[in-house]
Amino acid sequence: MKDLSITIPVSQRTYDELTDAERNLVDLAREAYGRAYAPYSHFHVGAAILLDNGETVTGSNQENAAFPSGTCAERTAAYYAHSAHPQAGFKAIAIAARGTDGQEIESPVAPCGACRQALLEYEKLAGHDVKVLLVGRDTIYTLPSVRSLLPLAFSEF
Ligand code: THU
Repeated sequence: MKDLSITIPVSQRTYDELTDAERNLVDLAREAYGRAYAPYSHFHVGAAILLDNGETVTGSNQENAAFPSGTCAERTAAYYAHSAHPQAGFKAIAIAARGTDGQEIESPVAPCGACRQALLEYEKLAGHDVKVLLVGRDTIYTLPSVRSLLPLAFSEF
């Protein structure tokens, strides 16, 4: 028998410690949660994706009275990014959220399991790591790849 311990690399930064490009992506994710349609959960999430071609794409969570039909911000952004720019790999994604109290959430927001799986596939399509920025009010976690967010991931290829 052998016990394995898996660690993931997370860097904790303040907004001021980010690069200009990272700050821009965080700003776009923060703007995007203002466009969420979340009348059921009142939890507004925004995602911004930087593509290899320099374009940025944003998305927000879109809910529906038929609850399972809603879509998370990350997948709204990812699916739009790849349908609008199928040739461009993802370079980085920032995710931010406003909670039910109307304030940006204090702890960095992390994507759900389904979004991690979807983003992982786009990382594979890109052929390189996709940087992840998880945004909180004063604290931002950066991870070097989607892979690092989903250890022991399911993969068909
Ligand atoms: N949500 C996201 O948009 N991204 C996540 O990673 C987690 C959850 C949305 C789904 C739903 O509209 C609301 O947040 C509450 O779960």
